[in-house]
Amino acid sequence: MNLLEIKELKVDYTTKSGVSGETKLVHAINGINLGVRRGEILAVAGESGCGKSTLAKAIMKLVDIKNGEIIFQGTNSTALNSIKEIRQFYQKVQMVFQNPYSSLNPKMKIGSILKEPLLINKKLSSQEITRIVEEKISQVGLDTSVLDKYPHEFSGGQRQRIAIARALILEPELIIADEPVSALDVSIQAQIINLLKSLKENLGLTFIFISHDLSVIKYISDRIAVMYLGEIVEIGKTSEIFDSPKHPYTQALLSSVPKIGSKTEDTTIQLEGELPSAEKLPSGCKFHTRCPYVMDKCKDKIPEEHEFSLSHRCKCFLYTNENSMI
Ligand SMILES: Nc1ncnc2c1ncn2[C@@H]1O[C@H](COP(=O)(O)OP(=O)(O)OP(=O)(O)O)[C@@H](O)[C@H]1O
Ligand SMILES: [Mg+2]
Repeated sequence: MNLLEIKELKVDYTTKSGVSGETKLVHAINGINLGVRRGEILAVAGESGCGKSTLAKAIMKLVDIKNGEIIFQGTNSTALNSIKEIRQFYQKVQMVFQNPYSSLNPKMKIGSILKEPLLINKKLSSQEITRIVEEKISQVGLDTSVLDKYPHEFSGGQRQRIAIARALILEPELIIADEPVSALDVSIQAQIINLLKSLKENLGLTFIFISHDLSVIKYISDRIAVMYLGEIVEIGKTSEIFDSPKHPYTQALLSSVPKIGSKTEDTTIQLEGELPSAEKLPSGCKFHTRCPYVMDKCKDKIPEEHEFSLSHRCKCFLYTNENSMI
């Protein structure tokens, strides 16, 4: 059984236009089915605005969902109502954000920041709380002397380690990391990525790792889900996606990743036009307005998912029987 199972998820935002005051719907997530396996790092990739953060927020119950189910450890988390049930859910599922500074209370010392979830959720002695806090801070590679300091006394990378320690404090099963290294210097990024990898291996944690940076994703993830306009257009093992990308969108995304040592000419696939607005989604296959292989049927029919292996699937008419060409 998957640790997390998402079924037919849809999320709309309601916005008001400034000039006319007219209410508009932004279709951020448009029917996502996704299983997250225990102990894996599943990366979610896709360009800005495709709905990666909204997917994370929906799992974290931070946005209302329009349709679908999010089943965590066999329980539909969208149906949790009591404060007790919701608290239990947040003990198991935690999030790490892009900007560690805004997610750490600047007025609290690190020790208090780390103790807070334990004081709220557990009935433990103060010695036990101190023991857990010290254990978690050393698991993220920091010294216990940091506990007596404030967030502003640290570098970005150290602050992200502290944010990770706080996410670990209640011993969650699943951590959703939304662009956790995007705000950091490249040299620091590698350290945080290695930390997340070692936490996965040593603690058996499961991660959903959201990033627009495919070189980071290649290094850290076991599987990759590629999103376009609120849908998953392709999913597979990291090697399957990098060695044999099937969806034209995945191919275009990957073609823009610089290849180390490659002297060949630029092979970047330029997509036509901008990402369409999530207020007015294209009909048929949502990628058809930018697809280099667009066919007539792509404009009004929605492609079925095609399975290339037990782990590799993609939604594109190029692979339906009458069109197997690439
Ligand atoms: N609070 C909101 N109100 C209205 N629309 C929103 C809101 N948050 C996001 N959106 C819209 O929903 C869509 C998905 O946004 P989301 O932030 O999930 O994308 P993303 O993939 O995380 O992008 P990025 O890579 O820039 O972080 C976009 O069209 C965005 O403009
Ligand atoms: Mg985002």
